[in-house]
Amino acid sequence: MIETLDIAFERAGHSRITEFDENNIQFGKVYSDHMFMAHFKKGYWKDMVIKPFGNLSISPANTTLHYGQSVFEGLKANRAKNGDILVFRPEANARRMIKSAERMCIPPVSEEMFMATMTELLRIDRDWVPSKPGTSLYIRPVCFGMDPYIGIRPSEEYAFMIFTSPVGAYYTEPVTVKIETHFTRAAAGGVGAAKTAGNYAAALYPATLAQKEGYNQLIWTDGVHHEYIEESGTMNVAFLIDGTLITAPTGDTILNGITRDSILTLAREWGIEVEERKLSIKDLMIAINSGNLNEAFGIGTAATIAPIKSIGYEGADYNLPSVDSWELAPKLLKTLDDIKTGKVEDVHGWVYRI
Ligand code: COI
Repeated sequence: MIETLDIAFERAGHSRITEFDENNIQFGKVYSDHMFMAHFKKGYWKDMVIKPFGNLSISPANTTLHYGQSVFEGLKANRAKNGDILVFRPEANARRMIKSAERMCIPPVSEEMFMATMTELLRIDRDWVPSKPGTSLYIRPVCFGMDPYIGIRPSEEYAFMIFTSPVGAYYTEPVTVKIETHFTRAAAGGVGAAKTAGNYAAALYPATLAQKEGYNQLIWTDGVHHEYIEESGTMNVAFLIDGTLITAPTGDTILNGITRDSILTLAREWGIEVEERKLSIKDLMIAINSGNLNEAFGIGTAATIAPIKSIGYEGADYNLPSVDSWELAPKLLKTLDDIKTGKVEDVHGWVYRI
C-alpha cells in the first residue's frame, strides 16, 4: 500500500468543529473542515490537495451536470474507546468504486490512491470522528467528469474528491416500505450494480410518490415482470423467513453491498441458514400471511441495519412482528457496531486503523 503521496495541504483558517453537536446529528448536514481533491488530466491523477471544505467552480457545460458521469462511495470511520480511528472495510469500497468507474467509463482511482488519500484526510480531521454510540464519520469519495463539453463522449478530465460528515442513524425509526411494481430501478445489462449518480436520481420520483402515500422507502422489484424482490432505494434488503435469511443475489441489477456481505458472513458463522436467491413477491406474501416472516431489514453503510416494520403491496399494508421481539437484526447491528468500534476482536480483518 502507498503510505504517502504528494498531497499538498492547505489548513482551514478556522475549525468549524464547535458548531457541531454530537448529541444532535442529522445525516449529511454538516461537513468536516477539510476535503481531499485530485484532478485527472492527460492520463494521470495529479494536483492532489487537502484543503478547506468548500464550493467548487465548474463550467455550466460541465459534462457531469448534463450526463451524470459520476460514481461515489460511502463508508464510515468510528472512534474506539481508546481514541483510535477505525474505518470499516475501506478496501472493499475502493474495489467497488473501481468497478463502478469502469462501468461509467471513468478512469479508476487505484485502491492504493483511495486508501492513502482517505487515510491522510482522516489523520487531519480525526477530531471530527464522533464517539457517541450510533454515531460515526461518514466518508464520501466521489469521482466525476470535468470537461466543459456538452457533446456525448466520456470526459477527458475528472475530479476525485473525498469529504466527510459526522452522522447518526440514517433512519431513526423502523421503516415502512412499499413494493414497487410499476417503475424499474435497474435492468440486466444496465448500471444497477454501479454506485453511480443516475441510479439515485431515477429513483427519486417513484420514491417521492411512495412517500406521499406514507412510506419511507421502496423495495424495487425486477425490471422484467416485477415479480422478484431486488433492493431498496437506500440499502439492500434481507428477510428472515422461518429462520432462513434470504436476500437477492447480487448481479447486474443489485448493488454489491459491503454491509450486506458482512452480515451474511456473520449470519453464516452463527449457523443461520443463508440463501442468496431470488425471492418472489408471491413467496414473501405467503410467508407474511402464514406468520413465517420473522424479520425484514435494510442493510447499508448509511442505514446500517434498518428494521422494516411494515410492507405495502398493491394497496394493502402488512405489519411485521413487533421489532422488540426480533433477535437477529439487533444482534447483527450490535455485533457490527462492536467490530467497528474495536470492542470485539476483528477476526475478519475488516477494520482499518488510521
Ligand atoms: C450509503 O449507504 O453509503 C449510501 O450511499 C446510500 C445513501 C442512502 C446515503
